[in-house]
Amino acid sequence: MSGLKGLPASSVVGVLGAGTMGAGIAQVAAAAGHRVRLFDTDGVVVERALDDMRERLERSVAKGRRTHAEVNELIERIEPVPSLEDLRDTALVVEAIVERLDVKQRVFSQLEEIVPAGTILATNTSSLSVTAIAAGVQRPELVVGLHFFNPAPVMPLVEVVIGAATSPEVAGAAYATAAAWGKTPVRCTSTPGFIVNRVARPFYGESLRLLDEGVADIATIDAVVTGAGGFRMGPFTLMDLVGLDVNLAVSKSVYEQTFHDPRFAPHVRQQAKVDAGHLGRKSGRGWYDADLPGPASLETGPVPERVAINGDAEWDAMAARLGASGVPIARTDVPFLDVDGTSVHPAMGIGGTDAADVVLDLVLDWQHAKRVAVAVGARAADDAVAKVAGLFQAAEIDVSRVAGVPGLVLARIVAQLISVASDAAAAGVATPEDIDTAMRLGTNYPGGPFEWADAIGVAPVMMVLDEMRAFTGEERYRTSGSIRRAAANGTKLRDQARRKI
Ligand code: NAI
Repeated sequence: MSGLKGLPASSVVGVLGAGTMGAGIAQVAAAAGHRVRLFDTDGVVVERALDDMRERLERSVAKGRRTHAEVNELIERIEPVPSLEDLRDTALVVEAIVERLDVKQRVFSQLEEIVPAGTILATNTSSLSVTAIAAGVQRPELVVGLHFFNPAPVMPLVEVVIGAATSPEVAGAAYATAAAWGKTPVRCTSTPGFIVNRVARPFYGESLRLLDEGVADIATIDAVVTGAGGFRMGPFTLMDLVGLDVNLAVSKSVYEQTFHDPRFAPHVRQQAKVDAGHLGRKSGRGWYDADLPGPASLETGPVPERVAINGDAEWDAMAARLGASGVPIARTDVPFLDVDGTSVHPAMGIGGTDAADVVLDLVLDWQHAKRVAVAVGARAADDAVAKVAGLFQAAEIDVSRVAGVPGLVLARIVAQLISVASDAAAAGVATPEDIDTAMRLGTNYPGGPFEWADAIGVAPVMMVLDEMRAFTGEERYRTSGSIRRAAANGTKLRDQARRKI
């Protein structure tokens, strides 16, 4: 893709819709040097969009990022136009109007009568099929998705969505143009939710189920996900920020469009919150309100006298973090961890809850971990959890006790994210590398699902999914062929799941 050329800066770009996204996209194109024609059926919206843009850009002048002259030049390059006919000299039109298939199809077929023969018709749709939008026009090979994220001038990711009829040249030009505009493009085929809105679903779906099953409460799930996973925000905090109604609408859309794939099923708890008008920050109340208790943390336990950690390299990072706390640590052939005679097993790994005194949830980054979840195994002594808590607390890691389900909290969420990502890659939605990039940049995840699979290994992921499947009987936890093959062959998941896009 890198050899392909984007639009020359001299070509004119049309933007349809001057709402949240259209205004942002117009700014991005103008900042890259294009003249932009901005059309909205509501002229007042265009005026307001340009006023707001000037105000925002002036703030960047105050911060020394731009000069007044640059702001004036940028805004002068955006010309508000009163009719679609005014887009007749554009080389690319990006549509960001109301999210309705019939309206988008109608506007695109009007547009192709107006613009020059080779003009690229891009849609910023977040949930409609690019293939379906293109089906309404005479030259569907010119239609492509350019899915920006909000706010478009700030968010680096653009999903270049390739419909069934999109020509490789158009996809390549859209990709190169997004790159020339300073964005990080990824390519994906037109499938429900594209990359980010599809692969991110289990982040919310598993968390809602963990809450519903009583595994942990809202604040504890969020604290484990951020403290052990390094995610910037926990799932419930993020839903409050995005809006529970928006999150539910995306979940429903992906679920409907995948013909009710159980992995994408929304949850009744989401619907109940939306029905109650608890939409998150914008309504003043969502998952969190003033009365919600903070995360559950265990009381300080005794500092252990003898700790043995398995000598395999995979536990080096944990040994380094715990060793720095001054507790004497031996590297031996214990199954995983032994704390004053208490056996600890990982939630992703040896034997599950039955074989150990204490089960320890996944930690993605031991060096920076602030919290870890533990569960009590079937044969634990009364003081087992306190002993283990003492060890982690000595290393300044808070410990939350959760109920003993396969994968506890973080390992279960991460396993399901990896599972959904690997199926997306295997189905030819996008390459593993583009999926990782999209999840890092589109959702701010600390890593991508395939990077996690590389680090954790694919066998533990399979174990959590298989145990969840057996435990719940739900098809939601089916393990994909690429995960099974990678585990059986000892290959990397990214190599097993890769398809040519
Ligand atoms: P918005 O409601 O802020 O803006 C839409 C604008 O389109 C309105 O100003 C409306 O007057 C105008 N409009 C409606 N019909 C039109 C027509 N036939 N011709 C010209 N203008 C027309 O909506 P927003 O949020 O900017 O979304 C626009 C598109 O971008 C949708 O397809 C949405 O799914 C997608 N999107 C939205 C994101 C978001 O976070 N808001 C993120 C990524 C994509």
